[in-house]
Amino acid sequence: MQDKRHWYDGKIYETFIAPHQDDLYKLIKNIIPPNSKVLDVGCGTGRMDFLLAQESAKVIGIDLSSKNIKTAKEKLQKKNLDNIEFIHGSILDIKKFTDEPFDIAIITYVLHEMDPEERIRTLRLLKTAAQMIIIADYIVPVPKDLSGLSAKTIEFLAGKNHFTNYRNFVKNGGLQTLAADAGLQIKETLKAHTETRQIIVIE
Ligand SMILES: C[S@@+](CC[C@H](N)C(=O)[O-])C[C@H]1O[C@@H](n2cnc3c(N)ncnc32)[C@H](O)[C@@H]1O
Repeated sequence: MQDKRHWYDGKIYETFIAPHQDDLYKLIKNIIPPNSKVLDVGCGTGRMDFLLAQESAKVIGIDLSSKNIKTAKEKLQKKNLDNIEFIHGSILDIKKFTDEPFDIAIITYVLHEMDPEERIRTLRLLKTAAQMIIIADYIVPVPKDLSGLSAKTIEFLAGKNHFTNYRNFVKNGGLQTLAADAGLQIKETLKAHTETRQIIVIE
């Protein structure tokens, strides 16, 4: 079984990193119609999924990091929820785990860390798996100010391979180019509170 490992996965991600995205998760929750069936791609420790599960019929989170999924499952055990499921695996293997169609697929801060080929394959797969795709990631061009510099620093600290993919994501024009390359049409682009982030909606 493939496994992705970052030094900050698991409890560190859940405690120190994911909470900084809470405003993003709330924005996404507001876009999703109630009672939807949701797939969260690269769900990390599942923090957004617990929020979305409040009004969704079902939420499935999949992540390649066994440490992140372990933390997500530990949290799930403590809550009495039967409409969330966490899967350890790659989105590219989703059909091994479930064949169900989804109303919404969400992918937040994952594409920039994938290699170029994996990004395109993932987006093409999501187009067949869900009716609506919501993507949140870095705005390109990256702002030439402190916010842009701190984003770059964070990505540098994530590790060599991660940083190489981030730089390629930026160099190639970010989400807009990627959506076009994958044959996806953007319905809406939303600014998402911080200067370095955007949300795009594809239907
Ligand atoms: C920066 S984290 C973002 C986590 C969460 N979506 C968030 O917004 O906080 C990126 C996650 O994507 C996962 N990931 C990367 N490639 C993946 C793949 N092919 N399939 C599933 N998860 C993947 C990583 O393991 C990592 O947990």
